[in-house]
Amino acid sequence: MKLVHAWHGNARQRRDGTGSPRRARGASGWLAVAGAAAGLLFVAAASPGPTSTGQAVSGGAVRDDGAALYLQNCASCHGPQGQGGSGGPSLIDVGAAAADFFLSTGRMPLGAPNQPAVRQQPKFDAAQIQALVAHVASFGQGPPIPQVNGNGDVHRGLELYTANCAACHAATGAGNAVGGGFVAVGLGQATNRQIAEAMLVAPGVMPAFQFSDADRDAIIAYLGYLRSSSSPGGLPIGGVGPVAEGFVSVVLGLTALVLIARFVGRRSHAGEPDDPSP
Ligand code: HEC
Ligand code: HEC
Repeated sequence: MKLVHAWHGNARQRRDGTGSPRRARGASGWLAVAGAAAGLLFVAAASPGPTSTGQAVSGGAVRDDGAALYLQNCASCHGPQGQGGSGGPSLIDVGAAAADFFLSTGRMPLGAPNQPAVRQQPKFDAAQIQALVAHVASFGQGPPIPQVNGNGDVHRGLELYTANCAACHAATGAGNAVGGGFVAVGLGQATNRQIAEAMLVAPGVMPAFQFSDADRDAIIAYLGYLRSSSSPGGLPIGGVGPVAEGFVSVVLGLTALVLIARFVGRRSHAGEPDDPSP
């Protein structure tokens, strides 16, 4: 829309070629074009790129070879035997659960040791993750990938979730800032297996939880219910979280206030007696 308007303004300017008001309009047109272009660039730069690293490492015979993938993508930080190093912690005894969680949520591999490990598009496909997980698990004795039963008790899950998770992840699972620059991510993307793994693995500032299998499955069932139910607690507004929702209400609220102020202001000048008071 903006682009179209900008070009119209400009074409008109060229046709009659005179007059400062027209020129000013042309200039604002260019500004709009430049703004839109900058916006597009920003969006392009901000959106997570295709899995270029995955492609770069996945070619040829080493594709599913866990040891080779590990040496190429992980050893520089975690050490060739998983003993750890200056760039990353030891992976001995972290087990398959941790490796699967960090790889399947795209938190690993990090691009640089001081980067935060955040959820993103996984760098590897399922077969490569399986191979890497098996290799990392071979370093020690850590917990295996948990076997989740998808039929947990939703009501029990609600109680457990409210008592143990809602403080950080919000009652709706939408996520929250938990202080110290940490964000308890929204739980809408995590699979059942990743939820079970997170409770074992304790990523970031999240504590580890030792629930019985039935309680764990109850929480998973409740989160599944939250995912499938239509946005409890208001409009999802794209599901991007509490900051965005606050922002949207500020923008809408301010717009409404400005409109009301203008309406009231105009009324008082609209041909009424100068001093309405008796
Ligand atoms: C640039 C350095 C770097 C690279 C490369 C890297 N990691 Fe990591 N890794 C880290 C750091 C730093 C942490 C700790 C992050 C945290 O806990 O938030 C970590 C944490 C982990 C953990 C969790 C350990 C725990 O104690 O729970 C696992 C599992 C893991 N990495 C696996 C891998 C695998 C597999 C690869 C290769 C595909 C890889 N990492 C590549 C730096 C790296
Ligand atoms: C002290 C705050 C805190 C509590 C309590 C907490 N978490 Fe977390 N959780 C976090 C943080 C912070 C992260 C993000 C860690 C990261 O990205 O490194 C996280 C990540 C997760 C993830 C990964 C989500 C994803 O998409 O990658 C899951 C699943 C999860 N938590 C489930 C739970 C469940 C279930 C409970 C309750 C049993 C719980 N958490 C309790 C802080 C918390």
